[in-house]
Amino acid sequence: MNLKNKLMLVTGGSSGIGLDIARLAKSRGANVIICARNPEKLEKAAQEFNLHYYVCDVSEEEQVVKMFGSIKQDYGDLDILINNAGFGYFAPLDEIEPSKFLDVYKTNVLGAALCGREAAKLFKEKKSGNIVNIASTAALKGFASGSPYVATKFALRGMSECWRAELRKFNVRVILMNPSEVQTDFVINSGRSKREFNPTKLIGEDIAHAVISALEMNERGFIPELTVFATNPVD
Ligand SMILES: NC(=O)c1ccc[n+]([C@@H]2O[C@H](COP(=O)([O-])OP(=O)(O)OC[C@H]3O[C@@H](n4cnc5c(N)ncnc54)[C@H](OP(=O)(O)O)[C@@H]3O)[C@@H](O)[C@H]2O)c1
Repeated sequence: MNLKNKLMLVTGGSSGIGLDIARLAKSRGANVIICARNPEKLEKAAQEFNLHYYVCDVSEEEQVVKMFGSIKQDYGDLDILINNAGFGYFAPLDEIEPSKFLDVYKTNVLGAALCGREAAKLFKEKKSGNIVNIASTAALKGFASGSPYVATKFALRGMSECWRAELRKFNVRVILMNPSEVQTDFVINSGRSKREFNPTKLIGEDIAHAVISALEMNERGFIPELTVFATNPVD
């Protein structure tokens, strides 16, 4: 697919992986909308990289429906949804707090499903579209203290399989991207302390490059799932 003049929505596009995908798509000629909750951060990113934006908490159904209504009204179309908004909550099993567990599930799983649902309505009608779900290598393998976050990413991977089965006949490609550790604000936003930058570990641009490459493949075919690891990360 040639991205020129295609309309892309990137959820959680105000920083990290989402912003890098938005920037790379923009450089390929796509029209890009980003959404997130913090209006100041969102506006700053949108202005700096000439992107459109809507303030939207993807875990809130009303806000998601409103955003997609505005997209239809303002642009009349959507070609690509990047379901990227997410954060982490990590705790050992015997310390899990239900409210934090539900919060992370509400954004990482329900939020992706709500955006997927609204995009699917548009894509089924026009019989084409692309959904990229940003999961994680935590969707493939669990680890100690990871259960709340890992549960959300396994769920996103499972939903992606279902959406693929439902939407393929409408020419909708559902692509799952599993990044390994990427050096973004994810660590701080998940309540852990910032780590020193390590040039052997992944950065958002690495994930953006893989996502854009998968989208640019001729629409005759699609790559169901990509996993990206650092080649030789040195701790
Ligand atoms: N960094 C990693 O190591 C890594 C590895 C694998 C997968 N991932 C996944 O990659 C995605 C992006 O993470 P990142 O590393 O780029 O982290 P990040 O820099 O913290 O970016 C997260 C983005 O999501 C937005 N967001 C969070 N909750 C939201 C909500 N309810 N509604 C709308 N926007 C929301 C944030 O903005 P606001 O806070 O303003 O809403 C921000 O724009 C996440 O799904 C994460 O699980 C990250």
